[in-house]
Amino acid sequence: MDIATTPTNPQGNPEIADAAPTPQDPPVIRREDYKPFPWLVPSTKLAFFLGLEETRVSATLKVEPNPAAEAAATLRLNGDGITPLAVTVDGEDTDAWEMDGPDLVIPLSAAPHEVSILNGIKPSANTQLMGLYASNGMLCTQCESEGFRRITFFPDRPDVLSVYQVLMEGDPSAFPILLCNGNKVAEGVRENGTHWAEWHDPWPKPSYLFALVAGDLVANSKPFTTRSGREVECNVWVRAEDLERTDHALESLHRSMKWDEDVFGREYDLDLYNIVAVSDFNMGAMENKGLNVFNTKYVLADPDTATDADFDAVEGVIAHEYFHNWSGNRITCRDWFQLSLKEGFTVLRDQLFSQDMRGEAVKRIEDVRILRAAQFPEDGGPLAHPIRPDSYREISNFYTATVYNKGAEVIRMMRSIVGEKRFRAGTDLYFYRHDGEAATCEDFITAIEDGAGVDLTQFRRWYSQAGTPRVTVRQAVEGDSLVLTLNQHVPATPGQPDKLPMPVPLRVAVHSRANGTLGDEKLIILADAEQAFTLPLDGPDPVVSINRSFTAPVVIERALQSEDLVFLAAQDNDPFARSEALQELAVSHLVGIASGEFSAAEQAAGEAAIIDAFRSSLADAALEDAMRGELMVLPSETYLFEVMASGARKADPGAIHTAREGLKSAIGAALADELQALHARASAVMLDDPAGRGARKVKTLALALIAAADPARAATLAAAQYDAADNMTDRQGALMVLCGLDHPARAEKLAAFHERYSDNPLVVDKWFTLQALSLHSDVIQHVRDLAEHPDFTMKNPNRVRSLHMAFAGNPKGFHAASGEGYRMVADVILALDPINPQTAARFVPALGRWRRIEPVRASLMKGELERIMAAGNLSRDTFEQVSRSLEG
Ligand code: TRP
Ligand code: ZN
Repeated sequence: MDIATTPTNPQGNPEIADAAPTPQDPPVIRREDYKPFPWLVPSTKLAFFLGLEETRVSATLKVEPNPAAEAAATLRLNGDGITPLAVTVDGEDTDAWEMDGPDLVIPLSAAPHEVSILNGIKPSANTQLMGLYASNGMLCTQCESEGFRRITFFPDRPDVLSVYQVLMEGDPSAFPILLCNGNKVAEGVRENGTHWAEWHDPWPKPSYLFALVAGDLVANSKPFTTRSGREVECNVWVRAEDLERTDHALESLHRSMKWDEDVFGREYDLDLYNIVAVSDFNMGAMENKGLNVFNTKYVLADPDTATDADFDAVEGVIAHEYFHNWSGNRITCRDWFQLSLKEGFTVLRDQLFSQDMRGEAVKRIEDVRILRAAQFPEDGGPLAHPIRPDSYREISNFYTATVYNKGAEVIRMMRSIVGEKRFRAGTDLYFYRHDGEAATCEDFITAIEDGAGVDLTQFRRWYSQAGTPRVTVRQAVEGDSLVLTLNQHVPATPGQPDKLPMPVPLRVAVHSRANGTLGDEKLIILADAEQAFTLPLDGPDPVVSINRSFTAPVVIERALQSEDLVFLAAQDNDPFARSEALQELAVSHLVGIASGEFSAAEQAAGEAAIIDAFRSSLADAALEDAMRGELMVLPSETYLFEVMASGARKADPGAIHTAREGLKSAIGAALADELQALHARASAVMLDDPAGRGARKVKTLALALIAAADPARAATLAAAQYDAADNMTDRQGALMVLCGLDHPARAEKLAAFHERYSDNPLVVDKWFTLQALSLHSDVIQHVRDLAEHPDFTMKNPNRVRSLHMAFAGNPKGFHAASGEGYRMVADVILALDPINPQTAARFVPALGRWRRIEPVRASLMKGELERIMAAGNLSRDTFEQVSRSLEG
């Protein structure tokens, strides 16, 4: 092969090059412009000559005209930051190619051909962590969404499926383990001492599911036998020092494999399942076929270094990536606008799995809390988009809570409407009908319609309309019935001024407060803008519990008397409904105070009602601690902003923070004895006790409430909890409370924690996060100092998130009236953008919410966005987010 060192035609055709976008105006990609690729790529052979500084890649693609597409006279292969060193067509070296911007364009007659390309990449210089990169001396890849084009030239789009055969070759001392998708088919050692492995993945896949890993790794292994009796080798690969923390991940994988067989009828389809943990990773994990790559955060766990919540997160992410094998890999997406096809469905699947593993109500409460805190603000802000977006400039910006979590809610609504059994018939049909295909959201909806026997015509609006519907509720007694009049309104969002009504499934029950009787649950579907429903009445003082188990992702607007909410919070037979009633009580109270709408008397009455509700959940012996803990969590400040900022009213972060802390302090003072008794009882429960998890949860929640009322007492209790702790949950909880206090124990325990865990990066991350999230009045200065700490680096996304993302989510620091918090986050965006644009762009939405915030802060936030824009030279990722935040 004739290896040129410079491309023959680096600039490409000047006409085309001129039409290429300047970095400051990346083109808009539209869903309606979809066209199939003119070529099929039945097989792809790759050879990697691995090195941290330099890796050579040779790619051989068999191509043939796609009968389902318009013929083309050229083959356009995507590239990004790479240059061809040699190109051959049908075995002949050729110069007849050109670069069009980043892409390689090769003229080709409409017949089958074999195209080979050689190029080189520099993994150690790859700070974006997309494509092939180095992490801790090992090599790994991240290809979703468009990282494969940073490795080699290829039609890098999810609807081009190919069978991959991959040769990996490298220095056995640097890279003793060589992993790729599928099965290892051969391996050996060359005369020069390098070793090699050849891998074959029998399942055709899009390029975004390609992966390789090369490094010094060890595995925790345990075979899984599928329901048809096949044995699957399961490995969790980590660095040797981490091996002892991998059992939970491996067991979670086995539980996921079994659950998907039992609940969705899905069996695994290879004889090998590899999971690799890497410490530099942009997201949580990646579902590459047969070779999942994980952030260490979602693999490593033991009680000394991981909290109970960390254990749950590991289990959930392991399950999520495993479930993608069917919802994502066997059936993939036609184009990236269909991302929710795999992500929304897979999130629903992992949520249902975790509900089965750990209890339905608690998991549902947590998922709804995340939706309200993370997705509702997206829907209400300048970056609002439907779960199936219509356009983007940079697809990485659409890996959002809307596509993932609201996407899951939308499919959950289908399941609620048709019931579990018919939903399963629908998903069976979907998996059968589209296996091996790149499908669309429309394909999914049609399969559910046909399989479950339901008409989802109007329901499709959930895919095309952005915005969280507001449902208002009025109730009137008519004879022995209750008439519920419901109204729905979907707020305008950028590009979508007018909305149509959507089917809103609502599980409701009508109780009688006077009789203390609980009515039966019933599903109603609000399909029109306004609709009345007649429900049977059980007795006087009817109390309606609505949107039970959160059947629809909407905001319910109603003014219920606080006696009714206290009754629901204490008496409802559905624990989810109890928690919702408490939330409703707290939201209306806190928003009422923050907006100055309450008189002192109203404020006192509201506070008393909430304290009553807390008192009864603390005293309720029938309640498990895991649920009691959920009832002790007040609504998040971000959700309170959303509720406060409705209509002409703006959110006042300062007033909300003061109101919420004031309520915590009132609860802590009024229930001081009960909380301290709870803390003492929970502290007596041992680590191995089955009730231990619940006890640990309420222990720290009690401490936090005590701290709001009596910091000195809380500091003593927290220091004691820290010293007595034999697990990370208690230790982190104690330190969390101490971090918010001005007390000598704060510095003392922080130093002890850092020293104890200084060689464990995931725990050092916690050390940063606890300080960045704290309620301490000097939090801004703390974060400034921490950014200069020797352990801090902008190059590791976990570390950046542990400090700066945590701070951006700390309402007290971020929304400081001086605007310093906003300035710090803008500085982070500017500093991080050239290093890791994907991660940098994730900081923008926090500033983007300015329009819903009171005018003084709004202008400070907007000013920072303008400063970022004026800096110029922004990545596509950050440019898109900042410009939309200023326009929206
Ligand atoms: N598909 C991955 C998941 O859901 C998401 C993901 C991992 C990702 N790494 C990424 C998305 C990098 C964009 C960029 O689990
Ligand atoms: Zn996913």
